[in-house]
Amino acid sequence: MLIFNKQTDLKAYLSPFWTAKTTIGFVPTMGALHDGHLSLLRKALQENKVVVMSIFVNPTQFNNPEDLEKYPRTLDRDVQKIATLSDKVIIYAPTVEDIYNGKTVSESFNYDGLEHQMEGKHRPGHFDGVGTIVKRLFEIVQPSNSYFGEKDFQQLQIIKKLVQKHKIPVNVIGCPIHREKNGLAMSSRNERLTETEKEESTLIFKTLTTAKKLFGTKSAKEVSEFVKKTFENHPKFSLEYFQIADEATLKPCFRKSKNKKYRAFIAVFINNIRLIDTISLN
Ligand code: PAJ
Repeated sequence: MLIFNKQTDLKAYLSPFWTAKTTIGFVPTMGALHDGHLSLLRKALQENKVVVMSIFVNPTQFNNPEDLEKYPRTLDRDVQKIATLSDKVIIYAPTVEDIYNGKTVSESFNYDGLEHQMEGKHRPGHFDGVGTIVKRLFEIVQPSNSYFGEKDFQQLQIIKKLVQKHKIPVNVIGCPIHREKNGLAMSSRNERLTETEKEESTLIFKTLTTAKKLFGTKSAKEVSEFVKKTFENHPKFSLEYFQIADEATLKPCFRKSKNKKYRAFIAVFINNIRLIDTISLN
C-alpha cells in the first residue's frame, strides 16, 4: 500500500497516469473509516484503473473546536481496513501544513444558495471549509471520477455545484447511504456513542421512514410537526432541524409539486454528539 504525506510526492507519482489519461478515482475522507466509506472505495475500485483515498481531518470545516479536537484519528486502523479491499489503493494522508501552508483559512464560495440551508445554517462557514479542501484535493489528485456519499446529501449537491461553477473536469458520483443492520446511518461519530445510545439512535431512521410514509398523504408542515413531537417525547435527543426540501435547490417544501423530487433531512444531538441522516421521499 502506498501512503503519501506530501502533495509533491503524490503528484510526482500520479503524473504519468495523468499523461496516459488513465482513469483515476478519488474518495476524499476524514478517516475513522467504516463500511460506508469502504462502499465508496469499492465503487471507485470497480470503475477506475487507479484509486486515491485521502484521509485528512480538515480543520476549516469544523465550526466547533471541540468537535475538531474529538474527531477520531485512526490512521493505522484505516490503512488495515483499506487493505481488506485492495492493496492497490493510494492513500494521501497529508498534514495540515501540507494542505494549508501556514494559512489555515477557508476561501469563500457561492453555491447559488445551497449553502444557506440546513447544515449551512447550523454550521456557519462549514461549506466554505468543505469547498476549500475539496477544491484543493481535486487540484492535487486531478481525478477523473470522485465519490461522495448521499449521507451528506447537501455536501454532495454543493460539490456538484463547485465543480460546475469552477469548471473542474471531474465527475461527481453520489453513492447510497450505508446503514447498520438496525438502520442507523454509519458515521465516524457513531464511535463516540455507547452501545445503548447506538440502539436508541435507531429512532432517527425509524422516524425518517415514518415521515416518508406520512408524506404520501400529509403536508410537509404536518410531517415536520410529527417529527418534532417524536423527539420531544424522547428527551435524550435534541432535534436541531428537520427539513423537507426540494432535492435540487434544497429549499424547504411548502406546497408539494408533482414534478419535484423531495428529501427529508435531519440533524439530532444525543449526549452532545451530532448525528445527521436523510431519506428520499418520492
Ligand atoms: P467523511 O465524513 O469522512 O466522509 C467521507 C465520505 O464518505 C463522504 O462523501 C460521506 O458522505 C461518505 N459517507 C460517510 N458516511 C457514509 C455512509 N454511511 N454511507 C455512504 N457514504 C458515507 O464528508 C467528509 O468526510 C468531508 O466533508 C470531506 C468531503 C472528506 C471533506 O473534508
